[in-house]
Amino acid sequence: MSASMPTMYEKGRPVPYMPEPVSQQPQKRARCAGRTLVKGLVGVLALLTCLHSLQLINLRSCWSDGAMDASAPQCPQATAVVPEKNGELWESLGQAFGSDAFKGRAVEWLGGAVRVPTQSYDKMAPVGQDPRWEAFGPLHDYLLKAFPLIHSTLKLTKVNTYGLVYVWEGSDSDLKPLLLAAHQDVVPVNPETVDKWSYPPFSGHFDGKRIWGRGSSDDKSGLIGVLSSIESLLERGFKPTRGVVLAFGFDEEASGIYGASAISKHLLSTYGENAFLLLVDEGGGFGQEFGGVIATPAIAEKGYIDVRVEVTSPGGHSSVPPEHTTIGILSQLLVHYEANPYEARLSRGTPMYWKFQCLAAHAPDVPHKLRKALKRAVKSDKALKEAQKELFKNPGFRAFVGTTQAIDLINGGVKTNALPEQAFAVVNHRIATDSSVDEAKEHDTALLKGLAHDFNLSYTAFGAQITGQDAPAYGTLTISDAWGVALEPAPISPIDAPEYALLSGTIKATYNAHRGLQGDDNIVVAPGIMSGNTDTRYYWALTPHIYRYNHYNAGNGTFLDNGVHTINESIEVDSFLEMIKFFTTLILNTDEFRA
Ligand SMILES: *[C@@H]1O[C@H](CO)[C@@H](O)[C@H](O)[C@H]1NC(C)=O
Ligand SMILES: *[C@@H]1O[C@H](CO)[C@@H](O)[C@H](O)[C@H]1NC(C)=O
Ligand SMILES: *[C@@H]1O[C@H](CO)[C@@H](O)[C@H](O)[C@H]1NC(C)=O
Repeated sequence: MSASMPTMYEKGRPVPYMPEPVSQQPQKRARCAGRTLVKGLVGVLALLTCLHSLQLINLRSCWSDGAMDASAPQCPQATAVVPEKNGELWESLGQAFGSDAFKGRAVEWLGGAVRVPTQSYDKMAPVGQDPRWEAFGPLHDYLLKAFPLIHSTLKLTKVNTYGLVYVWEGSDSDLKPLLLAAHQDVVPVNPETVDKWSYPPFSGHFDGKRIWGRGSSDDKSGLIGVLSSIESLLERGFKPTRGVVLAFGFDEEASGIYGASAISKHLLSTYGENAFLLLVDEGGGFGQEFGGVIATPAIAEKGYIDVRVEVTSPGGHSSVPPEHTTIGILSQLLVHYEANPYEARLSRGTPMYWKFQCLAAHAPDVPHKLRKALKRAVKSDKALKEAQKELFKNPGFRAFVGTTQAIDLINGGVKTNALPEQAFAVVNHRIATDSSVDEAKEHDTALLKGLAHDFNLSYTAFGAQITGQDAPAYGTLTISDAWGVALEPAPISPIDAPEYALLSGTIKATYNAHRGLQGDDNIVVAPGIMSGNTDTRYYWALTPHIYRYNHYNAGNGTFLDNGVHTINESIEVDSFLEMIKFFTTLILNTDEFRA
């Protein structure tokens, strides 16, 4: 990938820039629920927010409505924020983090965690029934040994046996605590690929530059990064004014069903709703995009639904077949799906629109035509369409903006001489941040209605009888939420809030400090989204300020080289050290922050 290729993050993996054009079929307009929400927040809170945050950041950081005010600067940037009261501690810790002695400790801390395999698998039975969960016990033993001050100072609660919640009490209980999340589990290593790794997947080997192994990047770097930072602060005798709570799930890679979901209940019953200042979890990092260094905290996640499409019709001997079997009918339904992809529409007031406005405002190598269209798009619908057309030449961008569909499972038939009485397929959708589960259901329901009629099928969609109640039908078509776990797109975290400016300023200060730079323009902070989901899917009620970002250095858009979810997963030690610095700066900055 070349230096100017932009990246969008899916669980720390970039969707690479692919310049081939895709054909588009104009369809129905999508509703803009997310836009309404954000516009509401922005409109009502903008002035207050600006006034509130003047002390912390300068005026440029007040986002304009983004909808129509073309004169306002797009993608205003916060200034770098460094600790003041704890400035000396921060400086001296920063120096210590640069020493060979600390590097050695950091390598050991992360390597040791990688050496405890904590793989999570799909469809595991609950804790206590499935013995595979017991793999997490040794990780807890390891953490206890590796971080003695944390375990003697913070209060640890084990939730559903393997979920870890650490509480570092602050001296001022009126201040909402900071919530830092990470996950203990890793995706399984395919045993057939073990000999293809440069170093064994659970070796935690350090080759002088990189730490190797499954989880070195996703997400033991986050887990150990947070703990390394806090252990170091404790060694210096730091006592927080604002509380810090750590939430470490143990099955994030398997949807967080037993981990984050239980932790969420625990935190809600202990602290209540909207009880945290902000929540920072894994997600985006920073890297080169269009010639600029861009940090991308994910402020939203796409929604999710798997739609099961099932056809039944009379069976019989295949020597006397009907014109269409259930498999033939299902095939036609699936062809119809693919011939009618969801329309993707770039709308003002959505995270992806803001991301592109940031690139237009701050990245030097955005092509002239695209930059011009984006700038004019603030006011002009025509320019917005032009910008969309340019951007969607990259199918990755298109996928991030719209609702996607992918037929991922199919099943039907038992024997070549028997007509199949039933056949089904499952269509996976990732729902656009400005759409909803209901909108996806309505879309699919309408999509198949014509064919249900043509094939004389009685049609039921998501529990509602659509057609066939009046006359006998030849067979049935049933579409449903395949596993009953549809997920709405995440609420969009505000970017005009002081909390976002605090995060942005922390990112800038960390980036500068790590490179000996000064100023506010060395790195640009641009909001992004996740196309997949993190443990934060269970944490929406805890705070509106959820940012998926751990300051991971993606360099020139080459997360893939780090082997996340595949062979050769590894992390550069320098990148890990910078993450530790980020968490330290964040803890100290939030400690001094007053909203
Ligand atoms: C893993 O890294 C080694 C070199 O260290 C390389 O030979 C091998 O091709 C890599 N495997 C993959 C799948 O990238
Ligand atoms: C639909 O199928 C039923 C049952 O085979 C049949 O009675 C009915 O006439 C068919 N309707 C049409 C419109 O073909
Ligand atoms: C991208 O590569 C260039 C040239 O090697 C380098 O100077 C720059 O620091 C890299 N960007 C990042 C974010 O690492």
